[in-house]
Amino acid sequence: MYGQPQVGKIRLLRKLHILNSPETVMTTVIDGKSYAAGIRKQVGKAVSRLIADHHLKPRLAVVLVGEDPASQVYVRNKGRQTVEAGMDSIEHRLPARASEDELLELVEDLNNDSSINGILVQLPLPEQINESRVINAISVDKDVDGFHIENVGKLSIGEESLVPCTPAGCIWLLKEQVGDLTGKNAVIVGRSNIVGKPVSMLLLREHCTVTITHSRTRDLPAICRQADIVVAAVGVPEMVKGDWIKKGATIVDVGINRVEDEDGKNRLVGDVDFASAMEVAGAVTPVPGGVGPMTIACLLRNTVIAACRQNGIETPPEVNWGGNTAGSG
Ligand code: GUN
Repeated sequence: MYGQPQVGKIRLLRKLHILNSPETVMTTVIDGKSYAAGIRKQVGKAVSRLIADHHLKPRLAVVLVGEDPASQVYVRNKGRQTVEAGMDSIEHRLPARASEDELLELVEDLNNDSSINGILVQLPLPEQINESRVINAISVDKDVDGFHIENVGKLSIGEESLVPCTPAGCIWLLKEQVGDLTGKNAVIVGRSNIVGKPVSMLLLREHCTVTITHSRTRDLPAICRQADIVVAAVGVPEMVKGDWIKKGATIVDVGINRVEDEDGKNRLVGDVDFASAMEVAGAVTPVPGGVGPMTIACLLRNTVIAACRQNGIETPPEVNWGGNTAGSG
């Protein structure tokens, strides 16, 4: 189950209610930061138990190629939060000009190193490197991103697998906010391999009626207006407007776009026009502080799950919720 009791107990405290106008709904700003902190705490408890009972301290290796500033921040945060959860973190850096062979050699070394439980190669990679060749070189059991073709296939047929982190985080937030998702109309804006496609599979597993939309979709606003749930993962700043949203719908904004405002200052915005969405939606994730923090929390959870599976240990109850179990029917 998603939302184990420890997290559920204080979930009301984590929702910030804002009254818009007399005739509009109360819109909840979904506090992803707080939910993510709850998940990390549970991961920390699971890790303590693994260390005490099995002398197993999970270890995550993160590989960064080049100096992309945003990737550097993500990798630093992953390392810090891994250690804070009581696990070991190892970072490998390769120069931007590194060849595909060099990276494949490093991945092979990490695959063969039995002290490493999870491997993550930060994307995007420089253009001389074929991303899919690298992703598929990672051992399936250590693929904590859930991007390996075998994990993708297992997710799509409902077999147990490592599930991509951002989509898992979206589902957690939706289940906390909406409860049972059965029969809901979910519209996904964007068809990427990292978010759009896997989140669609997870919503299908939750018995939603799922529509995947993309750049060639006709009359996107009309399709979004039918949705009880909108997941925006398209990478276009503030594209989804309030008048695309059905009153009371739940909106999950995966976008993180840096834009310059009128006085030349940089700020982060999502793929949803937050101000107009707040006038009509039932609940919205903010940017930053919505889906973003959930991604690393779910990565830490995947690392624990991977370490347990590699060692034939049952997944600790603190991290054994939804997402990674098969669904059918
Ligand atoms: N770049 C942006 N998001 C991700 C992610 O979830 N995993 C990896 N490996 N790279 C990313």
